Amino acid sequence: ADALKVGIAGLGTVGASLVRIIRERAEELAVTCGRAIEIGALSARDRSRDRGVDLSDITWFGSAEAMATEADIDVFVELIGGAEGAADQAVRAALERGLHVVTANKALLAKHGVELAALAEEKGVLLNFEAAVAGGIPVIKALRESLTGNKVSRVYGIMNGTCNYILTRMEKEGLSFQDCLREAQRLGYAEADPTFDIEGNDTAHKLAILTTLAFGTQIAADEIYLEGISNISIQDIEAAADLGYRIKLLGVAQKTESGIEQRVHPTMVPRDTVIAQVDGVTNAVAIESDILGELLMVGPGAGGDATASAVLGDIADIAKSRPGEQRVPVLGTPAKALAPYVKAR
Ligand code: NAP
Ligand code: HSE
Repeated sequence: ADALKVGIAGLGTVGASLVRIIRERAEELAVTCGRAIEIGALSARDRSRDRGVDLSDITWFGSAEAMATEADIDVFVELIGGAEGAADQAVRAALERGLHVVTANKALLAKHGVELAALAEEKGVLLNFEAAVAGGIPVIKALRESLTGNKVSRVYGIMNGTCNYILTRMEKEGLSFQDCLREAQRLGYAEADPTFDIEGNDTAHKLAILTTLAFGTQIAADEIYLEGISNISIQDIEAAADLGYRIKLLGVAQKTESGIEQRVHPTMVPRDTVIAQVDGVTNAVAIESDILGELLMVGPGAGGDATASAVLGDIADIAKSRPGEQRVPVLGTPAKALAPYVKAR
């Protein structure tokens, strides 16, 4: 079969890891996918910036939208970030052109996910976003595919690596909030604007996506009760520990009799539970459903390689798919059939 040509827009923490991994694993990927995966085009702001990999032989586009519109590619991979601007315009242009899209951008999906899913479904292409929630943990695939037929009652967990990293190091090493945040930024875990991490917005974006997949409702990120960790002090963490608890930033979505409840806030979690013992950049997502019971997935929640692993899995799924036979609805339920969101009273 012909090689699958991917164009990658955004060559920061995630994009640079992805380029390196696709190159390092080219032979294995060609065998497992039944066809080669080639990087056909690249785009970022600054062409001269050192990305730790040689990019000189790949066609460069100064604009992500131009790459989406003009490049000789089958898949547009968006690793820029942001709900508006370059990422939004380029993803729309790629879908309009009939390209498959892979993105790690939860802010974009939380805001425009239903519209983008409808466009992908109309065009008969895939819009894959495993990396957008809980980094390398395959939670989208679990909810969208593996749990088909189950009625989900609750989804909750630790969905932001930066916050969990900060809380862990504050507790275990007595470091200041600001020092931990700076380190999370240096390691590539934090968002371009880290207030999205520490004020809980990033967790809310991810929770809104999971809620839609779990309950088949419209995305409702604005309906989430939101409280971040920026006011948590070492004294709070120590007081919780004295009582037998650890403080974790949780996202929780559950079905109630009056509607859906979604909330993000620091939570005192009993120390002897699995979730309380999830440390550092690791994330944990629990899904409660009627046929399977409780599923708990724990794994790397942020960072270049962990995130690129999920992006690569999405690209591999496209490589293995048959053109014109895209039967998995982007958001688990066809975009046009999503139910209205009813907030719990
Ligand atoms: P990043 O390190 O800030 O990289 C962003 C990249 O986008 C940079 O290469 C930048 O170009 C490029 N860019 C910015 N504006 C652009 C524009 N107008 N046109 C073309 N390229 C543009 O971000 P990241 O951490 O890799 O994150 C990328 C995406 O993955 C975000 O949606 C993020 O939320 C998501 N994500 C990240 C992680 C993580 O652990 N980092 C995990 C899961 C999901 P220059 O390099 O030239 O400035
Ligand atoms: N900033 C995000 C986090 C990246 O720390 O979890 C992964 O989505």
